[in-house]
Amino acid sequence: MLVSAASQHHWSQRWVFLLALVGATVGLGNIWKFPHLLVEQGGGAFLLVYLCCLLVLGAPMVMAELALGKSGGLSPVAAVRKIAMDSQASRFWVVLPLLSVLTGFIVFAFYSVVSGWLLSYFFAGSAGRFDGLGSQDLESHFSNLLDDPVALLIWHSAFVLLVVGVLLKGIRGLDHAVRVLMPVFFLLLVGFLLVAAWQGNIQRSLQLMLYFDASDITLQTWQLALGHAFFTLSLGMGALIAYGAYLPPSHNIGRSVIAVLLLDTLIGVLVGLVIYTLVFAAGLEVSRGPGLLFITLPFSFGNMAAGQWLLGGFFLLVTIVAWTSAVALLEPAVQVLNKRFAMGRSWSVGLVAIAVWLLGTVALVSFNQGQEWTLAGMTLFDLLDFLSAKVLLPITTLLLVLFVGWQVKSEVMRQALSTAGWLFNIWLVLIRFVVPTLLLIIIWSNIYSRF
Ligand code: PHE
Repeated sequence: MLVSAASQHHWSQRWVFLLALVGATVGLGNIWKFPHLLVEQGGGAFLLVYLCCLLVLGAPMVMAELALGKSGGLSPVAAVRKIAMDSQASRFWVVLPLLSVLTGFIVFAFYSVVSGWLLSYFFAGSAGRFDGLGSQDLESHFSNLLDDPVALLIWHSAFVLLVVGVLLKGIRGLDHAVRVLMPVFFLLLVGFLLVAAWQGNIQRSLQLMLYFDASDITLQTWQLALGHAFFTLSLGMGALIAYGAYLPPSHNIGRSVIAVLLLDTLIGVLVGLVIYTLVFAAGLEVSRGPGLLFITLPFSFGNMAAGQWLLGGFFLLVTIVAWTSAVALLEPAVQVLNKRFAMGRSWSVGLVAIAVWLLGTVALVSFNQGQEWTLAGMTLFDLLDFLSAKVLLPITTLLLVLFVGWQVKSEVMRQALSTAGWLFNIWLVLIRFVVPTLLLIIIWSNIYSRF
């Protein structure tokens, strides 16, 4: 059933919503963090711990956020206000979505700067600029890019424009974007798996990523797995509340959630397989983060036939996941201005875009002119990361869980989740007791590791 443009308030189809959810959750975290976590933290043993975290913490939280959005139906702020009123809870809880929106906003700023690098590499790679370069040259190419505030600004601005392009048309824009972008992403992923199988030894990467040694499981494994589950599922930033707002009342949330958890993990594993197989095929060592994407991989592709096209394709794949995640990061702020403050959609998008553009511009200076500007030993970029990931995110999520678990009437949540009775009961126990305890552990370990 396709819905006419003017009357569209919901995702046009169930599978489109699922694609949107995958787009929002699969992001840079799946690409440069997850495969490395697997390799470093015990392969299959880490995966097992991580899957437990997804089931126990991830699934109930994703369900809670989607349900809040679905039953509020407006913006994250309006949704929480409405549900708090329905449950006769304090109006103070409105702080919660405001904090989430703020966190998403900050995360967007550095997400956009990094995505700007991706765009730059997409164009430079497709144009053959890296052909035949040695690893030294690639290192200096990357550091030259970071040293050049004007280039960073141009790419960051271009990325903000890409996101604006999707957001301007509201649900219609989101719906169309995921219909096009996600299939392209899946095709590219399958294509790269084939290339990896053809060029290298997939089995070796599989062994590296999924070997199993139970003695590798330590407290740190749990902490890392919990922390990653949080980020990769896009929790605590209002994104899922915002996407839930476009769900029709009859939607059964439980089923979509399981599919997303599995896909998010599977995609992380598959991307890891591609990356490591290609890196090994070029005789290189595994690395992580920016070094892996911007130095090691271009070098690996440089050794292959049609490396230029492969490199371009790979950066397109990564740009797509960053793009669909970035859209989800900003949609909540746009909804708040649009619905809560009755500002037109274009104005809301414009205002939010200018604000994040400015914040990103301030952040990108940390790599060059502003390298010396530090606070507590952190550059502005690191500070934004610390503030959002280590401070705001855990606090907001804890508040969120306390709100849905203890303040909202369970009848309201039962209806919003539209799920089987037994599943609801499990959800309630997890959200009331288990998730808050796990969140306290994360908060404690964040504070502990900082001092
Ligand atoms: N889940 C995304 C990632 O893994 C990050 C993200 C967080 C996206 C919050 C949207 C909202 O990179």
